[in-house]
Amino acid sequence: MPPLVELAGVNKTFRRPGQAPIHALNDISLTMNEGETLALIGESGSGKSTLGRIILRLLEADSGTVRFEGTDLSALPDREMRYLRSRLQAVFQEPYESLDPRLSVGSIVAEPLRVHEPGLSQAELRERVLTCLEQVGLPPDAAGRKPGALSGGQQQRVGIARAIITRPQMIVLDEPTSSLDLSVRAHILELLAELQRELGLTYLFISHDIHTVEYVSSRIAVMYLGRIVETGTVREVFDDPRHPYTRALLSARLSTDPRESPPQLRLTGDIAAPTTSHHGCVLAGRCPLVTAECTAGPVRPRALTGDHEVACVRADETPDLLAPAVSR
Ligand SMILES: Nc1ncnc2c1ncn2[C@@H]1O[C@H](COP(=O)(O)OP(=O)(O)OP(=O)(O)O)[C@@H](O)[C@H]1O
Ligand SMILES: [Mg+2]
Repeated sequence: MPPLVELAGVNKTFRRPGQAPIHALNDISLTMNEGETLALIGESGSGKSTLGRIILRLLEADSGTVRFEGTDLSALPDREMRYLRSRLQAVFQEPYESLDPRLSVGSIVAEPLRVHEPGLSQAELRERVLTCLEQVGLPPDAAGRKPGALSGGQQQRVGIARAIITRPQMIVLDEPTSSLDLSVRAHILELLAELQRELGLTYLFISHDIHTVEYVSSRIAVMYLGRIVETGTVREVFDDPRHPYTRALLSARLSTDPRESPPQLRLTGDIAAPTTSHHGCVLAGRCPLVTAECTAGPVRPRALTGDHEVACVRADETPDLLAPAVSR
């Protein structure tokens, strides 16, 4: 069976008149398997949302292929593309901004169904809406209210209800809990986990929050400046990070046992502008482990053991051998 989603060599550059082009995605290859949660982490501007939007077909890649269940999406006729859109849904960071304040919650949740299953009667629509509200933990009378009358957590539940009503296979969750209070966050994460189990959903979970990611994901992809620099299972990436960027990112993470924390690695300087073209490794200018090989040519992800893939020429070296360059 092909992977649910497969990206190969995807590039995306934003061009605006009079401004330098922004290379948002560079040579991205990635697979997602049915039923998994793949977390996409990386600094602001690294291209996470752009990648999510390309998978959702809200944006067109400049080159490369995006396959869903083995089918190249760019080759699909409109009718099949519409069907496919119902199988792929999204939940965004700001629930209130993505909900039309003039409509009732019932109309908002029903809207994707009106588009994708236009043959449904009013009674059937109502039934599906009420079932969805119940699935996301909202009372039936929420259907008659306006989003402005709900709390942030309830609004995000409405966003989730709208995403699951077409019975999708996959949902792109773009920072779904980042704008919520800490206490509400945990409830929404529990709800997402429960829905995944019940409905067999696949999630692309985009997040800044390393702790959340560790809690909800099965695999991790780390992005830096429009590239995926490391992928692997949560344990491979969190317990044995091999890309210097991942190691620097995880250095900020608190370990419950300080004796187990890996050596700290600090990068120098600031993230380069996304308008820069890189001949070699994108991190070379900031990396304490840099060698001549790093700038000689493109550094592509390569496989280590298991599912672990790292785009670093020194990925095979153990952290202990690299110790002189880092500090404990
Ligand atoms: N529509 C657009 N037009 C021009 N540039 C864009 C557009 N969308 C994104 N960009 C640029 O592309 C780069 C990647 O942006 P993207 O939103 O994908 O990053 P991100 O990792 O999601 O960041 P954040 O964590 O802040 O959400 C950034 O430099 C951004 O400014
Ligand atoms: Mg984003």
